[in-house]
Amino acid sequence: MSASSAPMVYVNGDYLPADQAKISIFDRGFLFADGVYEVTAVLKRCLIDYAPHIERLKRSLRELDMAMPCSDDELERIHRQLIEMNDMDEGTIYLQVTRGDEGCRNFPFPEDAKPSLVLFTQPVNLSEDPKADTGVFLASMPDIRWARRDIKSVALLAQVLAKQEAKARGAHEAVMLQDGFVTEGGSSALGFVKADGSIVLRPFSNTILPSITRQAVTKLADQSGVAIEERLFTLDEMMAAQEVFTASATSLVTAVVKIDEQRIGGGQPGPVVRKLRALYFEMAEQQIHEQADAWS
Ligand code: PDD
Repeated sequence: MSASSAPMVYVNGDYLPADQAKISIFDRGFLFADGVYEVTAVLKRCLIDYAPHIERLKRSLRELDMAMPCSDDELERIHRQLIEMNDMDEGTIYLQVTRGDEGCRNFPFPEDAKPSLVLFTQPVNLSEDPKADTGVFLASMPDIRWARRDIKSVALLAQVLAKQEAKARGAHEAVMLQDGFVTEGGSSALGFVKADGSIVLRPFSNTILPSITRQAVTKLADQSGVAIEERLFTLDEMMAAQEVFTASATSLVTAVVKIDEQRIGGGQPGPVVRKLRALYFEMAEQQIHEQADAWS
């Protein structure tokens, strides 16, 4: 450890205090947003749903004709090392792979690109998040993103604008709309609960990110006998629902209690979303036990 009090980060083979870590100005992530990322939740020092996050990373890389920057074992070691070095019990790990740097700005892929790999931790209170008790507000707006939202690209300017607009309108998250239908949140999947207790979700396609948390929640709902309907839905339909929720590595499963000026349900998190959140933590607890066994 160095004398710096900055958190430790990983950059291309080195563990460094964040204030000493550097990336080239020619890195294509910086110049073109030519890269992909993952955010994995950490609870009790364990990685939650790590394997599907890495599977999605590999898919994103394949879709952009980029190579994995290191072996699977090495990548997992880096995640664990950062949790240890930063003594992080709970939070998220951010991972970014960019196409690297060829010492100039040139649009086509470099001939012999060496990808850049960066990881850092962010302590976040996920399990005791006060927003889980109060619920969150959404603000609706057009979805102005590109046509390959299934790739977890670092080109997030449209989401930055969406979430900034949501914030300016007093909301925690955006609900984005295309062709009259809801796509997803600025950085979360969205779903709602119908009066008959079933859950409605937009089908995965290139219009939304295949959320890992949503997939976990869908499986848990299915196992507990909740019907899942995958179809397009409108903002009006979602606003008339009993319960609405966000799903993401940073919100896990969180109730939505207001969309624009409309209260959802009674303006309080409802029973189905509370149950799903509880089931999610049970699932996480199971993974924590498995990892403790595997790494002891
Ligand atoms: N975002 N949709 C979008 C557009 C997202 O950016 C995210 C996650 C999700 C949820 O995916 P997952 O369940 O795999 O986290 C859906 C991360 C958390 C972020 O950008 O910070």
